[in-house]
Amino acid sequence: MIETITIFDVSVYSGYSYIGHCKEFLWNVKSRQSGDFIFKGLVCEYDFEEMMLRKDLFLRTQENKEYVLEDFVITDVSQIGRLQGSAKSIKILDSSFPAIKAFIEDEKIVLSKETQLEAFKAVSDVVHQVKNDAVINGEQTRAVMRTLVDEVLQAPDAIMNLMDIKSFDDYTFTHNVNVSAISLLIGSSMGLAKDELEELATGCMLHDVGKIKIAIDLLNKEGSLSDDEFVELRSHPRQGYDILVKSRGLSEESRLVALQHHEKFQGNGYPANLRGNEITLYSRICSVADVYDALTTDRPYRLAMSPYDAIKILTSGIDRHFDPNVLTAFIRKFSLYPAGSFVRLNDASIALVLRNNPESVIRPVVKLLKDSKGEKYPDRIEINLAESSGLYIVGQASLTDAKIL
Ligand SMILES: [Fe+2]
Repeated sequence: MIETITIFDVSVYSGYSYIGHCKEFLWNVKSRQSGDFIFKGLVCEYDFEEMMLRKDLFLRTQENKEYVLEDFVITDVSQIGRLQGSAKSIKILDSSFPAIKAFIEDEKIVLSKETQLEAFKAVSDVVHQVKNDAVINGEQTRAVMRTLVDEVLQAPDAIMNLMDIKSFDDYTFTHNVNVSAISLLIGSSMGLAKDELEELATGCMLHDVGKIKIAIDLLNKEGSLSDDEFVELRSHPRQGYDILVKSRGLSEESRLVALQHHEKFQGNGYPANLRGNEITLYSRICSVADVYDALTTDRPYRLAMSPYDAIKILTSGIDRHFDPNVLTAFIRKFSLYPAGSFVRLNDASIALVLRNNPESVIRPVVKLLKDSKGEKYPDRIEINLAESSGLYIVGQASLTDAKIL
């Protein structure tokens, strides 16, 4: 049985519990099955021996009844403030509600939830317009991007918490918004002016609009593609550009992002095998953001990579894909170890990242969880690695490494 629920008035707190990363929500829920309730809820990501990742939603009613909605995903964000989600099943919880053990302290939040939702709504309107062969209202997308740009410019020193933009599960909605947000941070790090940032973000928001014309089965296909399928998939930049040429209120610079985002800096990209500065700056920025977001998101054919591994791949020079100046700006702006991730220190202890230091992305503030012998620390010990010369991060730790039972 599939249960559909509507969620509104959401406040979100991040934390972790003994079963993994969780977000705690206070919200109102409308449930077909159970009627209206004010719930307290937790969405927890499970990591069973790192074999699978799934999100369950735990809900507690005012009467203290506890439920679990298995494999919960947010499916519709078209009405701002009233998200819809569905779960494979809803049942009364027989074990205990997973308690949050520690809260992750606030990072500077770059994008407010309201702006993210406005952006999701703009994406869903564009999808609707393209499916109905209507003219895209580029002015609407640009207006939302203006708000996005204002928020980024208000917090010029902010380092984006890369987990924060992974709040919603639907790839169609999130990918475009994420690519715009990541591109904006790169663009502002490169010193682009406000109107340039608006054009950049608008182009990035619409970069994959041509995919709406590609069969969904092909987009999600696992395994190798036939020659014909390759040709069809690779037609999306050209199809996207053609759609945007017919739309209202978009600059040519924004449209070119759709056409050129799969070109590669050293050549051999598509559709036109351009190289270097033949590719517009906005398209070069978009391609870094596009690949980064794709690598760090669960797809039907593979699990998400950690931000750390994704940045390693981007900077490894594989494929000679990216403009080195854009990559440098990207790394300056992003935290390698986002709040909520687990890390291993040089003395073999395991720690939870609490917040980043803007001046040193490799030396965040951490909370020690286990000492070098694997024993749990009895007290909350917080260390600012930027001020501690002897301790440093040697790599990421897994949830299994960090688990404290
Ligand atoms: Fe694309």
